[in-house]
Amino acid sequence: MKIAVLTGAGMSAESGLNTFRDSNGLWEGHDVMSVASPEGFQRNPTLVLNFYNERRRQLLQVQPNSAHIALAELEKEHEVVIITQNVDDLHERAGSSRVVHLHGELLKVRSTFKEDLILDWREDLNLGDFCEFNHQLRPHIVWFGEMVPMMEVAMELVAEADVVIIVGTSMQVYPAAGLVQYASYTTEIYFVDPNPSMGSSERITVFAEKATTGVPKVIDALKKL
Ligand code: APR
Repeated sequence: MKIAVLTGAGMSAESGLNTFRDSNGLWEGHDVMSVASPEGFQRNPTLVLNFYNERRRQLLQVQPNSAHIALAELEKEHEVVIITQNVDDLHERAGSSRVVHLHGELLKVRSTFKEDLILDWREDLNLGDFCEFNHQLRPHIVWFGEMVPMMEVAMELVAEADVVIIVGTSMQVYPAAGLVQYASYTTEIYFVDPNPSMGSSERITVFAEKATTGVPKVIDALKKL
């Protein structure tokens, strides 16, 4: 079966990475627009670069959790694509081979001059770190107000999926939040989240629990399909 997995920050919560909107969300102490918008970067690039340096350092300290691994194992039986709003590389490290990052990748940076000049980057990024054209490098992250270039690809992948599994997203940030609308009416939808923003229906099965306990239950349910 073709399976599209839509994941959000809750997917990485049990790996120790904060979500955005839970009480201890990442934005605490930081107004979203000051650390995750082009205007914020323009106004105070050092604040923004340091915000992402902290997150990059933390990412290099944590590991994929058992839900990341369970989703990677699904590839043995099915055609799986992970479509994630997360900028971490935990799905890749868990072994998923097809990962679409809608909001960019924390371990990559790009030129502010030529936006398709993208580099792998695992250390701090500071003012004065320039691309080969001598322009400042910035995090390869989709900031608020910026385009989501992978959206069309993601819509098609959801439209052709037999099963959609949604894990750990509050479904509050568009256009990613609207992706599930592109599932066809015959698609089975599973949703794993301790505070689900969607209710069960004839084709939506909700597991109101954490990823590490809910994802295995979805995988069991798939076996019965
Ligand atoms: N397992 C599964 N889900 C969890 C867990 C867990 N252990 N802990 C929390 N959650 C759920 C929360 O209930 C919530 O629904 O994860 C979701 C996290 O929602 P958000 O913090 O809004 O994260 P997300 O939906 O990924 O945010 C979308 O907003 O801030 C921007 O660009 C950023 O990609 C991000 C986007």
